[in-house]
Amino acid sequence: MAALVMPGCSPEKGPKPVQEIFPGQTWAMPTAVFAPLEGSPGIKASDCGHCHQDHYREWSGSTHAHALSDLQFQSELSKPTSPQWLCLNCHIPVGNQRKEIVESVLDGDLLKPIATENPSFDEKMREEGVTCATCHLRQSQGKTVVVGPLGTGKAPHPVVVDPQGLRNRCLDCHNVTYKVASSLVCFFNTGNELHSSNLAAKACSDCHMPEVERSIANKDGPIRLSHRHYFIGGGVPKEFGLMNLQEAGGYRSGLGLSADYGWDPKTRKWNWSVRMENLNTGHDLPTGDPERFIRITVTAFYPGGRIEQNYRIGQIWEWDPEARQIQDNRLYSGEVRYWKGSSELPARPIRIHLKAEHVRLIEKNAKYMEYTADRAAPEFRNRIRNLRQHYPMSRVLLEEDYLMPIPGSQIEP
Ligand code: HEC
Ligand code: HEC
Ligand code: HEC
Ligand code: HEC
Ligand code: HEC
Repeated sequence: MAALVMPGCSPEKGPKPVQEIFPGQTWAMPTAVFAPLEGSPGIKASDCGHCHQDHYREWSGSTHAHALSDLQFQSELSKPTSPQWLCLNCHIPVGNQRKEIVESVLDGDLLKPIATENPSFDEKMREEGVTCATCHLRQSQGKTVVVGPLGTGKAPHPVVVDPQGLRNRCLDCHNVTYKVASSLVCFFNTGNELHSSNLAAKACSDCHMPEVERSIANKDGPIRLSHRHYFIGGGVPKEFGLMNLQEAGGYRSGLGLSADYGWDPKTRKWNWSVRMENLNTGHDLPTGDPERFIRITVTAFYPGGRIEQNYRIGQIWEWDPEARQIQDNRLYSGEVRYWKGSSELPARPIRIHLKAEHVRLIEKNAKYMEYTADRAAPEFRNRIRNLRQHYPMSRVLLEEDYLMPIPGSQIEP
């Protein structure tokens, strides 16, 4: 196995601070280990939830809350080439969630972390993934404070008002493009995509945290401008049980789709034209994880057979020997594109089937995960071995049938 030495850096001997390897990168280290928060029983999400019940309930169903228990994450974490401590910096980012803290690595090798035991490790908080404290806690003059957007002066805990800082926190993890090692890259470009889009003035939270008027602490507090905390994205959650929450949490597909079909009896050609639109998501569709894509399928059924055609919207990467993007045909925000084609058929089609799916995990990778389940942490092994029973791999965005008009008839179907 090749050592994960930074490209271009000579492997110096001895400890090397991670801040030197990844200068200025927030994700190179976990957050501070926070001291107790005055006025709160603790800093876990479940502690905040005593008073912020709605926020806690919504966040509990979010992908953020499942950033550690995600079976795909656990599977990838167990690859021998994964620098686990680095992965955890974004998936369980708070100092208190970490059993060990890594501030330097030996000889510049990311697979040789130098770890120190963390006396303030909180095992329960570890399970909370991207927990409230990730975005809301800050160390200020040796004291733990809550970062808030409002400044109501009514909180039992200290509050620092910094709405901009709070909204920009997303970019620390969702706008990171960094070659970590030759076959390992972080490629989350969502922030840059947004900034160069037709909706550059928007913040991630404008769409992913819809506004709602409600009491923000306890049931009987004053009504204030608040924000949903489901953080719904592509509509494919981390467990089947969370599927229902997607629509309730505000999911809407970013893909607009419509189609036209025709049949030319002279050339015996069936023609199709599918119109695809990124409905102003502000970023590429799909965004985020490079392995995610949208698959559009049109199938023509004719007497005695059928023919299927596919279109894929997404990125294609080659991972070995060196990670590199070899194709990217994602739709940019607001883009309209047509996919047109034709096929020669032995007979005139009777029915056309149009289907669009948002794919998070492909069959081949699911098989590989099941096959390598034994190397994952013991508490996840069984579920990874039976991945398909637990992990939604895709979402159907649209499925419709079109009946071709009967020749000579005046009636459209
Ligand atoms: C004992 C109850 C209680 C606990 C525990 C608690 N809060 Fe609060 N919090 C409040 C109250 C009350 C307010 C003010 C509500 C208002 O003004 O309507 C508040 C306000 C806030 C605000 C908005 C601040 C502003 O003015 O912009 C944020 C953000 C917040 N809390 C986050 C948290 C987080 C994160 C935790 C857990 C680490 C937490 N709270 C724990 C009661 C609590
Ligand atoms: C500390 C890092 C971190 C920060 C800060 C962060 N996220 Fe995330 N986010 C993640 C991780 C990790 C995942 C994916 C977890 C997984 O799939 O296992 C994620 C997933 C998401 C998803 C995808 C959900 C889905 O089901 O498709 C959305 C949307 C999202 N985050 C929005 C936001 C927004 C908005 C903010 C800022 C308010 C934010 N994130 C801040 C780490 C972060
Ligand atoms: C990924 C980052 C992130 C996480 C995790 C997160 N929040 Fe927030 N929260 C925000 C942002 C951003 C806002 C402000 C949105 C705005 O004003 O545009 C906010 C606003 C709030 C507010 C102010 C009222 C409102 O709804 O706008 C409270 C209270 C709050 N959050 C509590 C919590 C609690 C409790 C948790 C955990 C259960 C939590 N948050 C988890 C990013 C986060
Ligand atoms: C104008 C609204 C809007 C803004 C602004 C926005 N998003 Fe999205 N985002 C969406 C919609 C709609 C989807 C669902 C796309 C789909 O899968 O159909 C989405 C999906 C996602 C996903 C899931 C991956 C995918 O493509 O399905 C992530 C992660 C995400 N957004 C993160 C962010 C982050 C981070 C920001 C800020 C830099 C942001 N978004 C800004 C509307 C928005
Ligand atoms: C810079 C922060 C960051 C680091 C470091 C990081 N991740 Fe993530 N990870 C994210 C974000 C943000 C998402 C969500 C993107 C999305 O939903 O499209 C994510 C999502 C994932 C997913 C879910 C993908 C999906 O399609 O649902 C897996 C699996 C994952 N990460 C594994 C890892 C592994 C393994 C490592 C270490 C080698 C790692 N991550 C390091 C930020 C990070």
